[in-house]
Amino acid sequence: MTNVRDDGQRRHVFIRTYGCQMNVYDSDRMADVLRPLGYAIADAPDQADLVVLNTCHIREHASEKVYSELGRLRDVKLERRAMGRDLTIAVAGCVAQAEGEEIVRRQPAVDIVVGPQAYHRLPELLAEAARKADLRRAGKRLPGAGVLDTDFPAESKFDHLPAPQGVRAGSAFLSIQEGCDKFCTFCVVPYTRGAEYSRPAAAVLAEARQLVASGAVELTLLGQNVNAYHGEAPCSSAGEATWSLGRLIRALAEIEGVARLRYTTSHPRDMDDELIAAHRDVPPLMPYLHLPVQSGSDRILEAMNRRHGRDLFLRLVDRLRDARPDLALSSDFIVGFPGESDGDFDDTMRLVEQVGFASAFSFKYSRRPGTPGSAMPDQVPEAVKSARLSALQALLGGQARAFNASKVGTVVPVLFAEDGRRTGQIIGKTPWLQSVHVDGNRRLIGHVVDVRLTEGHANSLAGEIVVRGFEAAA
Ligand code: 5AD
Ligand code: SF4
Repeated sequence: MTNVRDDGQRRHVFIRTYGCQMNVYDSDRMADVLRPLGYAIADAPDQADLVVLNTCHIREHASEKVYSELGRLRDVKLERRAMGRDLTIAVAGCVAQAEGEEIVRRQPAVDIVVGPQAYHRLPELLAEAARKADLRRAGKRLPGAGVLDTDFPAESKFDHLPAPQGVRAGSAFLSIQEGCDKFCTFCVVPYTRGAEYSRPAAAVLAEARQLVASGAVELTLLGQNVNAYHGEAPCSSAGEATWSLGRLIRALAEIEGVARLRYTTSHPRDMDDELIAAHRDVPPLMPYLHLPVQSGSDRILEAMNRRHGRDLFLRLVDRLRDARPDLALSSDFIVGFPGESDGDFDDTMRLVEQVGFASAFSFKYSRRPGTPGSAMPDQVPEAVKSARLSALQALLGGQARAFNASKVGTVVPVLFAEDGRRTGQIIGKTPWLQSVHVDGNRRLIGHVVDVRLTEGHANSLAGEIVVRGFEAAA
């Protein structure tokens, strides 16, 4: 395959990312895989020769969005064909993994279906799709429509991916762990992302150094169950066969230029002593933790197969706050899991009141085919789910506003990440992951700068830059 089209123009790829930060990471890595083939990034599908939808299957709503987008892309493809050009459509991510061939059956315009463990093979898949398109143009009838790769290959994709390129605004994601062995009864992840796998610590450290060299000052370590990390220890690490996440964080913090470390998403059962100690002892580890609890009812937690009860979670919160008193906690909640009574929901509300969250994500239970939860009796009516979600979100929203307001008047380091909506406005993140809007020079993007916080809102803060010397020198 050449890196230019027949008309001499450069090829472009548009990648649309749905869902979690793992998908954001995977999309960036797909761009890295496609770059050597000559693909530049397009800002919109109509400028692209290849469109990749990197999909999410976690809730029904998320996967249905993919099919509507595919319908729109089919129309673009038909318009293109009428003009003698083509559009290649690829579906990647968890819908690709879960639904495989069904995608091509539902939307025959799709050329490639590639799972989250196989996208390092995109060059081969594209070549195969191009070959099939040529044959079809020559009038050949082909048995299957799209090209499919939803394997969990024996080789790790990480051994085949090129070095990451293009750190965005000082902050980079670094995938250290994938898959999940927990099998919560509502969740598709163990099926779409497969068994737990931890990258060797040496590979993680090497990627971290590359990211820092290309401008990252903040690294967010990613994994579906990131604190279950147990990667092979580096050869230099005598006596230890594997490293825990706490150990890895200590090593990453020693890399010159790493100002901020974060990790997501964690499971309460895997918060071990070494990780809690890292929150106390490692200054670059930011005082923010996303720790999904899902429910405050022991009965529902048991039915969810969460492997922890309400007390374990509350005790963990106490230990974490002892280690790091200014820790901001975030969580995920599901309301309306099968069998959830008013009393169970009340337990969730009481847990939220007891803990006090700085931010949170909450969802109505969504029945996912193939998971044990979808076959459970006592599914909760939609109207009950909606009422519970509104009550929970009102409580969590009030806590987020109170948390933001508690920081007003203080001066905090902010890592600027992007332009604001208004000209002259830039947006960054506090150590507690709140968004802050300030008037400032966009050359501050990618840098950590002191900001005095002046206003707190539901989802963000406003502030003003304290040290303007950097702007003058820049
Ligand atoms: N229905 C609703 N929410 C779900 N989540 C995962 N599966 C489901 C489901 N079937 C939520 C959980 C998880 C987050 C990423 O998505 O809260 O922590
Ligand atoms: Fe899904 Fe997280 Fe449970 Fe794993 S631990 S099954 S990813 S909710």
